[in-house]
Amino acid sequence: SLPKQVKIVEVGPRDGLQNEKNIVPTQVKISLINMLSETGLPVIETTSFVSPRWVPQMADHTEVLQGIQRFPGVGYPVLTPNLKGFQTAVAAGAKEVSVFGAASELFTKKNINCSIEESLQRFGEVVHAAGAASIPVRGYVSCVLGCPYEGKIAPAKVAEVSKKMYSMGCYEISLGDTIGVGTPGSMKEMLSAVVKEIPIGALAVHCHDTYGQALANILVALQMGVSVVDSSVAGLGGCPYAQGASGNVATEDVVYMLHGLGVHTGVDLQKLMEAGMFICKALNRRTSSKVAQASCKL
Ligand code: HMG
Ligand code: MG
Repeated sequence: SLPKQVKIVEVGPRDGLQNEKNIVPTQVKISLINMLSETGLPVIETTSFVSPRWVPQMADHTEVLQGIQRFPGVGYPVLTPNLKGFQTAVAAGAKEVSVFGAASELFTKKNINCSIEESLQRFGEVVHAAGAASIPVRGYVSCVLGCPYEGKIAPAKVAEVSKKMYSMGCYEISLGDTIGVGTPGSMKEMLSAVVKEIPIGALAVHCHDTYGQALANILVALQMGVSVVDSSVAGLGGCPYAQGASGNVATEDVVYMLHGLGVHTGVDLQKLMEAGMFICKALNRRTSSKVAQASCKL
């Protein structure tokens, strides 16, 4: 059976734009987020408080977070890899943050320049500081269905890292198929291992569509009881530390599938497609959303 309602976490402004080669003007990012706020999306990941030397595209984090219009009832979380990022984010007005680790040692090293063990220690510091400030912390685990450097990742390893992040106080764990190599079979196997350690209600899936499997993988997760799905408007995205990884599954396509299944999202598909058209025009690229392609011939 399927959940009656699904929470969509829009990650386009962060996961989508972090990978663009040309610096996207701050005002374009702000306009995109404001348009997304009009669609009924409950969560819009806004930016990252990471090192501008590592990810130059997110260097305007403070300006973006302070420039957007915050709609009541919408969350605007930001990525914070360590205490320094957390403090800068809070000073900029962040009310929700996310830490991001991985089930792969090599990916962790390439992405945040430390071991899994060290990363968990840093996340612990962030969770502790966030607790004192009543700021909820989401936890990402990357490479749950495969790693660009290590290949196959054992479901038990995903469960272990996820459990540690959940136990330290992350309220939700987003399981990332960073390079989009998973299939419904591997998704089911991985989730079966993770739900032994973490309540299903605290899990989200974060699928990239590199191999065209994202919607199928999401459907399997929904059937297993997952009710939080990360996606990116127009299918923007990729990861700067995962060569060749394509964008996240397009939010338009996820919303279309969910509404077709009779699952409530609260999202207005028409307004969402307008936001997708806006950003594609600004970036001078074609949408990766099949639904948008079919409807607008972009
Ligand atoms: P590092 O170089 O090891 O940091 O980077 P350090 O602690 O050695 O410090 C070096 C310098 O960086 C110092 O400055 C620090 O102050 C500064 P200096 O004294 O030399 O002038 N620094 C910072 N500056 C700004 N913001 C900070 C910060 N921390 C230290 N927060 C670090 C470690 C984590 C900072 C770096 O590796 C980094 O920024 N990585 C971010 C990588 C990233 O953003 N990746 C993309 C997001 S993850 C993703 O996309 C996957 C996901 O979508 C899920 C999925 O698909 O699987 C979430
Ligand atoms: Mg991602």
